[in-house]
Amino acid sequence: MRNTYLLGNWKMQGTRAQITALLDALPLNTSALSPNAVVAVFPPAPYLSLVQQRLNDSVIGLGAQTVSEFPPGAYTGEMAAEMLVDCGCRYVLIGHSERRALFDENDGRIGGKFWRAVDAALIPVLCVGESLQQWQAGTTFAVIEQQLAAVFADAKIEQAPPFIVAYEPVWAIGTGQVASPAYAQSVHQFIRAELAKSFGSQSETIAIVYGGSVKAANFVALLAEPDIDGGLVGGASWQSEDFGQMMRALS
Ligand code: PGA
Repeated sequence: MRNTYLLGNWKMQGTRAQITALLDALPLNTSALSPNAVVAVFPPAPYLSLVQQRLNDSVIGLGAQTVSEFPPGAYTGEMAAEMLVDCGCRYVLIGHSERRALFDENDGRIGGKFWRAVDAALIPVLCVGESLQQWQAGTTFAVIEQQLAAVFADAKIEQAPPFIVAYEPVWAIGTGQVASPAYAQSVHQFIRAELAKSFGSQSETIAIVYGGSVKAANFVALLAEPDIDGGLVGGASWQSEDFGQMMRALS
């Protein structure tokens, strides 16, 4: 049975005071989370230690929003996977569409980051998804096939490492225009079939979460689909009431 994930991507937002207030308002120690539910937040890097201290012994795990494709060394401004582990991270987002579009993260770099994260025993959350133009042109599956192949095609893997895929249609991110559960399910099913090309039947054990305007009001309907294993939540992860309600939906 696959875990169900609620992942909160805070993006480049927040101050110490705002983050403390947000965490104070979340049900950090709820014992009501079901045993296969996983909740994690992805704060901006300067606040990882602050959040880690606050989350210690809570039900919420910690992740980073990106990682370097290089090992520790002379790479000014970058964060190595080992450093994220050292700061208490268990997860890392890889290839978020904002990183792809605004920070030159091409397929080659994204593949490098994914496998560096795996080597350091981080759990990568590989983000894939089509742009509005690609969606309108009907090329969603081709785009996703290429994004997955860039990471997995050359990999000679017998055992799938622990990782998560996040399907995030770019046209749904921050727009309020959530994909319908049926549409998202069709893409998730396609992603699982693509993963089977590399991992065979192990693809059934890999969690695929949906992201793009997820909030408490649509989360449960998305979760009802057989191949939707949770949500990667941006805007609503910054709303304690909404995020708390989504946490409670996993009880
Ligand atoms: P959103 O962002 O929930 O605000 O649409 C999702 C994301 O970028 O991961």
